[in-house]
Amino acid sequence: MTGKSSMHDTLLVTGGAGFIGSNFVLSCRKSTPFSVVNLDLLTYAGNPANFSELDGDGRYAFVRGDICDAGLVAGLLDEHRPRAVVHFAAESHVDRSIVSPEAFIRTNVYGTFTLLEQARLYWMGLSEADRAAFRFLHVSTDEVYGTLDADEPAFCETTPYAPNSPYAASKAGSDHLARAYFHTYKMPVLTTNCSNNYGPFQFPEKLIPLMILNALEGKPLPVYGDGKNVRDWLFVEDHCAAIFTVLGKGKPGETYNIGGNSERANMDVVTTICDLVDELRPPCAGSERRQLITYVKDRPGHDRRYAIDATKIMRELGWKPAEKFESGLRKTVEWYLGHPKWVESVRTGAYREWIARNYAERLKI
Ligand code: NAD
Ligand code: DAU
Repeated sequence: MTGKSSMHDTLLVTGGAGFIGSNFVLSCRKSTPFSVVNLDLLTYAGNPANFSELDGDGRYAFVRGDICDAGLVAGLLDEHRPRAVVHFAAESHVDRSIVSPEAFIRTNVYGTFTLLEQARLYWMGLSEADRAAFRFLHVSTDEVYGTLDADEPAFCETTPYAPNSPYAASKAGSDHLARAYFHTYKMPVLTTNCSNNYGPFQFPEKLIPLMILNALEGKPLPVYGDGKNVRDWLFVEDHCAAIFTVLGKGKPGETYNIGGNSERANMDVVTTICDLVDELRPPCAGSERRQLITYVKDRPGHDRRYAIDATKIMRELGWKPAEKFESGLRKTVEWYLGHPKWVESVRTGAYREWIARNYAERLKI
């Protein structure tokens, strides 16, 4: 079958103004030949300052808009004719999903459906060669697998889904839709399930940036529950490298687990941050940051442990993480200390309201 005009060397990236998306877009423009169209609604988590260094880059375009807007998505696909959609846009914070789940269902489930469906209509109109080369990469999370006990084996691609929070359930729903679009229509969809990311540009509602900034400012460091919950940490640049690898070498229809092989208990992460901040911004004697650690009320339904078995992507596609947790965390602390203007730009009134809402009651116990 002959299609209409052919694809361009362009990626349509959704959510490219958020934490991982920004790192991906910047690295894409620095290190690959691809043009980028960045579709992002600029919710509280999206920040145009993240890509100010791309001002004047003729191969980068930013579009403020909603992935749930089918007409907008169709128009962008038609105009830019991307060779891939890389889908990061999501509501991503578990605590917010517990307080207000609706936005998670809308963006993560309906938004992903809208993108998949519009991508399918675009894809069907491509030439046979372009249809084979097109990719839809759905960026997802290890939280879809639920929680592990201390002695259980790490999540692999065949671990059954058992999401526990509204966030995890909405991502699981989006993963199932992605799977169905490959199975039913043979659209070349790939899904990645990654562990906890950290690094520059992460919104300071998440554990690591929140603790860095609170430690710097002498505020309480709120550790949920007993502080023994375990996460596997991956430096964001390693996640971006994994996504490029899956885009280039991944097999359509497959899912790939991505992890840092760096399981740490939350309390260990927080004490390491305290020590790094003490080293880089020495405190007055007797006010070492560890003293700011405050146990607070636990997150409802708090998953105990996440761990990723990344054997498949390492063996089949040759990716592995380059950064060690300790060196990546040091780089991250240095980045936050070195970017006070960025920090101020994201701590708006809405941010302060969220912090008050999430922590005021917790800090009372
Ligand atoms: P983030 O919250 O920092 O950024 C999300 C971005 O999506 C923001 O720029 C926001 O404005 C945008 N967005 C939200 N709703 C939108 C909508 N309806 N239309 C268009 N744009 C919208 O998230 P993140 O931490 O960068 O995560 C990116 C993706 O990676 C998510 O899909 C998340 O589930 C997944 N993921 C994150 C982690 C992690 O540790 N942060 C780990 C594994 C997977
Ligand atoms: O595993 C991947 C997931 O990692 C991503 O899919 C999510 O988008 C991302 O937000 C992250 O989810 P977590 O819930 O694991 O990340 P968070 O930074 O919110 O919390 C990490 C751990 O720290 C978790 O056990 C809860 C705990 N915590 C968190 C905050 C914000 C605290 O003890 N205190 C806090 O103030």
